[in-house]
Amino acid sequence: MVYDLIVIGGGPAGYLAAERAGHEDMSVLLVEKRKVGGVCLNEGCVPSKSLLYSAKILEGARHGADYGVRCDNVSLDHAAVVARKNRVVNTLVTGVKGQLKRNKVTVAEGVAEILTKTAEGFVVAVKPASGPDGAGTENVGKRLLVATGSAPVVPPIPGVKEGLEAGFVLTNREILDLDSVPATLAVIGGGVIGLEMASYFASAGSKVTVIEMLDHIAGPTDGEISKILLANYKKRGIAFELGAKVVSVGGGEVKYEKGDQTLAVKAEKVLLSIGRRPVTEGLGLERIGVLTERGAIKTDSRGKTNVADVYAAGDVNGVSMLAHTAYREAEVCVNVMAGRRDSMRYGAIPAVIYSNPEVGSVGETEESAKAKGLEYECAKVSMMFSGRYVAENESGDGICKVLVDKKTRAVIGAHMIGNYSSEIIYGAALMVETEMVVNDIKEMVFPHPTVSEVIREAIFSL
Ligand code: NAI
Repeated sequence: MVYDLIVIGGGPAGYLAAERAGHEDMSVLLVEKRKVGGVCLNEGCVPSKSLLYSAKILEGARHGADYGVRCDNVSLDHAAVVARKNRVVNTLVTGVKGQLKRNKVTVAEGVAEILTKTAEGFVVAVKPASGPDGAGTENVGKRLLVATGSAPVVPPIPGVKEGLEAGFVLTNREILDLDSVPATLAVIGGGVIGLEMASYFASAGSKVTVIEMLDHIAGPTDGEISKILLANYKKRGIAFELGAKVVSVGGGEVKYEKGDQTLAVKAEKVLLSIGRRPVTEGLGLERIGVLTERGAIKTDSRGKTNVADVYAAGDVNGVSMLAHTAYREAEVCVNVMAGRRDSMRYGAIPAVIYSNPEVGSVGETEESAKAKGLEYECAKVSMMFSGRYVAENESGDGICKVLVDKKTRAVIGAHMIGNYSSEIIYGAALMVETEMVVNDIKEMVFPHPTVSEVIREAIFSL
């Protein structure tokens, strides 16, 4: 059969594109080699949030006395936490499968490989992920959408490869399925994955040490917020080695260089979370001439590659590497395929760290604004301006920063640390996206009492 569209990869970009294209009455084949839902649903965003929510309840119970609620003998049943996580994942994966079915998408389990382009379209082989050579099918698509996502970066540090094989070193995939809580956990990389997992395992009882190459955690997050987050983590007993370069892993420890010293931290398990790289190898992209740059597929703002009728969306393009970006990129691709005008805008994509406290960011930080030479004014307020925040946080140290363009008075960035930031940041993203100006925001009514009011407080403090 000749499909209107073959989608390779069933993560957020792939499954949403397939659903939307099916809804447009395109005949769609979606090929997935592991599990529909991709990393996000099966071993990333969703399962980690399930674990973190259990940890949040645990911390709430532990600190209940501060709020007049005494809970004795509080404990965490890690196996039950993981079992619940699996139920959450199954519910959502079943939902995605249902949506694909409703939109008449054909789903093929297997590994896709582009063979050639003929007058009919792109020929894609689908082979079983394991099994005899030669098995499988050949399919033709008038269009292709590559949405193969990303995989953890595995550095050539001595012992890492062997550690991964032996189950001593874990990535985001394996750590979510540990059947017990390690007594000691070393986390290599203090970015989003490292911080979220450090948070859960510290609550669950591990002695966690985060080893980070840079002198700060949370990568491009606003510098002040990164420091507050670090202080919160340290308060919870999580140790940090910043400005540290890992030199080897093995024998139950991680060795690293810091200044002119070589040090080591003992670890029952090691989490490797130093970033992710686009997955393009073995796809056969070179057979049809698709350009890649440092492993990522080059696309324009409409998701088009250099080859006509071949699109790419999600982590594989290496641009933003977030599931919510992938969703929108997928929609853009399908709209363009359907002949509608659409393109990606990357200036107002919110980012969240689901730590406790949560961090939410959108747009320019002070650091990025300075680097670009932008003239801005920064309003900064304590979250204690919000009545709800005070009611719900004993000794909270959250802040909210709003950056405004000095000339136009439009909001160009917003950054916050404190719980509910993950939900509030969407409102700030709307302000950045629509270039709302200070006076417009002053005339808006925010629900009271909510933590979102800190945005209004920040704006009035300008
Ligand atoms: P990341 O890029 O967020 O952080 C990696 C960290 O590792 C950086 O701070 C980097 O300086 C450090 N690093 C690199 N090499 C190192 C080395 N040899 N030794 C010590 N530190 C080293 O990458 P991460 O945490 O692996 O996350 C990967 C992707 O997953 C990101 O693209 C992120 O956007 C996505 N993600 C998003 C989440 C969210 O939105 N809440 C949650 C989890 C992942």
